[in-house]
Amino acid sequence: MQKVYLVGAGPGDPELLTLKAFKVLQEADVVIYDRLVSAEVLALANPQAKLIFAGKMKGEQEKIQNEINRLLLVHTGVGKIVIRLKGGDPLVFGRGAEEWLFLLDHGIQVEVVPGISASMAVPSLAGIPVTLRGVATSYAVITGHRQNLELQNWAKYLMIDTLVVLMGVDNRHLIAANLIKAGRSLDEPVAFIERGTTDRERVLITNLRDVARGTTQVASPAVMVIGQVVNMRKKLIRTVEPVQDRKEDHVHTYTSVA
Ligand SMILES: C[S@@+](CC[C@H](N)C(=O)[O-])C[C@H]1O[C@@H](n2cnc3c(N)ncnc32)[C@H](O)[C@@H]1O
Repeated sequence: MQKVYLVGAGPGDPELLTLKAFKVLQEADVVIYDRLVSAEVLALANPQAKLIFAGKMKGEQEKIQNEINRLLLVHTGVGKIVIRLKGGDPLVFGRGAEEWLFLLDHGIQVEVVPGISASMAVPSLAGIPVTLRGVATSYAVITGHRQNLELQNWAKYLMIDTLVVLMGVDNRHLIAANLIKAGRSLDEPVAFIERGTTDRERVLITNLRDVARGTTQVASPAVMVIGQVVNMRKKLIRTVEPVQDRKEDHVHTYTSVA
């Protein structure tokens, strides 16, 4: 039975790859990978494997998707172990389910290997918990892609404490303006975490007002987090002072009673 592994590469740091992803990468004959898969993760693939870049640039998504589909069929057709490797989790904004359907329709079995999504790991490692007792009991992961922005009913996001926006860098001012128009506070904290989990991570903390004004400088890829939980970063990401040596507190003196 022909088969493709649909694998999540995690958010960048190779140590955030799952053991299963690592195992199948080592067995791969062909790895077809996306733009956000890090070089460090690719370096873990079988050294004999053919690595094929399939990153999509703006405006050429459909053309490249057709080419990816063709490559998947060609390589599975000759009995190769084929990995379709995507950043984060393959089914979170990654067209993974569409490729899965396409392969099934062509008689090819798919095994999914979930990955750690940037939507979770990037805020966590930046000291921003997406939920927090007494502060945020709900969160949503939304796309900031323009074609979806126009269709969004922004009022539905009023009820959600923390919003995590992927692919939102280019349209950040529109996202912020729409959220303010829908009723979210101008002062609501916003974080942008660029290249999270890598040694080139940069974090910018601002608010909805400034993002809507267009005064924030952010580079892609970045995760945008909106909500009060952003304030936790300054409490969680800090250098701790060494705790004073309090050994004497733990020393019990026993006095023998005659
Ligand atoms: C097409 S979506 C794919 C998401 C992926 N499937 C996942 O689960 O993480 C790509 C978006 O994810 C976010 N992203 C992925 N990796 C990132 C990273 N290391 N740092 C910051 N943002 C990242 C960015 O918002 C980027 O535009």
